[in-house]
Amino acid sequence: MTDEKIIQLDMGTVDSNVHSVRPTVCLGIESSCDETSAAIVDSDRNVLAHIIYSQIPEHQKYGGVVPELAARAHILAIDAVINQALAKANKTIDDIDVIAATAGPGLIGGVLVGWMAATGIAQSTGKPLVAVNHLEGHALVPRLRATMANGADGDVVVDFPYLLMLASGGHCQILLVRGVGQYELIGQTLDDSAGEAYDKVAKMLGLGYPGGPVVDMRAKSGNPKAFAFPRPLCDKGGCDFSFSGIKTAARTFLSKANTELTDEYINDFCASFQAAVVDCIINRLANAMKDERVRMAAPKTLVVAGGVAKNSAIRSAMERLAAKNKMLFAAPPMNLCTDNGAMIAWAGLENYAVGRVVHEPVAPRPRWPLTEL
Ligand code: KG4
Ligand code: ZN
Repeated sequence: MTDEKIIQLDMGTVDSNVHSVRPTVCLGIESSCDETSAAIVDSDRNVLAHIIYSQIPEHQKYGGVVPELAARAHILAIDAVINQALAKANKTIDDIDVIAATAGPGLIGGVLVGWMAATGIAQSTGKPLVAVNHLEGHALVPRLRATMANGADGDVVVDFPYLLMLASGGHCQILLVRGVGQYELIGQTLDDSAGEAYDKVAKMLGLGYPGGPVVDMRAKSGNPKAFAFPRPLCDKGGCDFSFSGIKTAARTFLSKANTELTDEYINDFCASFQAAVVDCIINRLANAMKDERVRMAAPKTLVVAGGVAKNSAIRSAMERLAAKNKMLFAAPPMNLCTDNGAMIAWAGLENYAVGRVVHEPVAPRPRWPLTEL
């Protein structure tokens, strides 16, 4: 990695000694949904260890995440996951400069497990602690690693400000990311998130949980014009989303299918559903680019993040939209799109660099809009 690709973190008044000698090392912990994850990342953008324990197999038979099961599974996994991360990085807790953990939003039982583990480590070692907003983890991780299209090859740093499509299982928002802790909401869903729509449609088709990856895969062999899914709100201005109409249409189409669902039917259904989701995202993003606040900020890069950012059709459509508007397009690598500890460690480092550390007890929050940061 060349020097210009490395983000120079100004350690400010927090602990300038540490950074002048070597990069700052952060242990990041994520436990807000169904992944127990810990990562060790340094301020030179090296991911020294990244352990993700996915609970998906435990929730699959219920067709979605069961909060009580998730909380219990986090309790059972958290110590081992943290210890594995330290061992993999060949570090002890003494080598860590900052502890960061998700403090919300998310399933509160799980958030509590990770946050209490982090608080315990920070208190017993006297190390600084950062309370990371999970959405901020998704929003900032493209600055740790992103592949940028129509420009440079390989990894490059995404500079502020950027226009972000944050699409996950729990959220669907267009944000103007001006800096660390500076997120302007340009549009958001009025009902379901994009990930939820994928998961629910997959469930209707009997494709299991999580729905995104399998619908994405099925869509590749289907006809996107086979079913006329609606494009809610696309005939109106603004940047908000609505996916509930697409979901209702899915239910209506399926209720009319009086034969057994063939592979061809399912593939066509997935392709048509996905085409509607992609059209909505592109329509809303195109409006966002015309938004006065966005035009004034003139972001150079269009970025996608969150679990749904793994979607190949969404990535390519956004890349085309960016090129059309003379913007760069950037997306994190696949393993940094869905929930992971590296994004929390990185957001921890970025917050630490600007002095946003915890000075008094913090209560984890099930709801915590980014705009409240
Ligand atoms: O960010 P994430 O791991 O969890 C939340 O913070 O919510 O996102 C999980 C969501 C799930 O809804 C999953 O179905 C969706 O991301 N997802 C995808 C794909 N891979 C995962 N959606 C569309 N296409 C994909 N390839
Ligand atoms: Zn997430």
